[in-house]
Amino acid sequence: MKLFIDTANVEHIREMADLGIISGVTTNPTLIAREGRDFNKVIKEITGIIDGPISGEVISLDAEGMVDEGIEIAKMHKNMIVKIPMTEQGIKATKKLTRLGIKTNVTLVFSVNQALLAATAGATYISPFVGRLEDTLHDGIQVVSDIRNMFDIYGFKTQIISASIRTLKQLADSALVGAHIATVPYAVLKKSFTHPLTDKGIETFMSDWEEAFGKK
Ligand code: G3P
Repeated sequence: MKLFIDTANVEHIREMADLGIISGVTTNPTLIAREGRDFNKVIKEITGIIDGPISGEVISLDAEGMVDEGIEIAKMHKNMIVKIPMTEQGIKATKKLTRLGIKTNVTLVFSVNQALLAATAGATYISPFVGRLEDTLHDGIQVVSDIRNMFDIYGFKTQIISASIRTLKQLADSALVGAHIATVPYAVLKKSFTHPLTDKGIETFMSDWEEAFGKK
């Protein structure tokens, strides 16, 4: 499973890119608004940091508007992926953009049926929102697992981005049920590096060494 970072914060993207663990970025209107910066500027900076898929979301709600915005987003950089909401209009736009050779990420996916429609329209990626499903006591990981099985049965090439990840367990389970990608917030990525036994192990190694050979 590949790791993307789910943020529009350029410093966070740079930090994780430096660690060599990130192969793509997803943004959405909320994440861009949170930074309070111009969409085009933010995207341009991100394309200079990460050489991999970068999702930028349309804000139109009608298919025509989504296609027009999508064409502009795709023109920004060869790595741009047009993020489209999972609606009737969104599916229509996805089909059109696919015909134009533009890659899409159908977002706000919460069911196998929605995933089936998006894949049928030719979506490059779909983003099931694990965290938001689990916020409402649904099994988000089961939805990812079911979508993966369905894609495998029918040979869909659409890749699953496990999104809206809030916990270490949701990230681990996404990997275990076969999400192709997880897009992960900075804070969850940071936490993923650590384990109390790793810290304790290092402490013991260092003190044993110092006891035998003195301080470095
Ligand atoms: O990639 C989708 C993600 O940004 C949504 O996350 O935390 O707003 O549910 P969240």
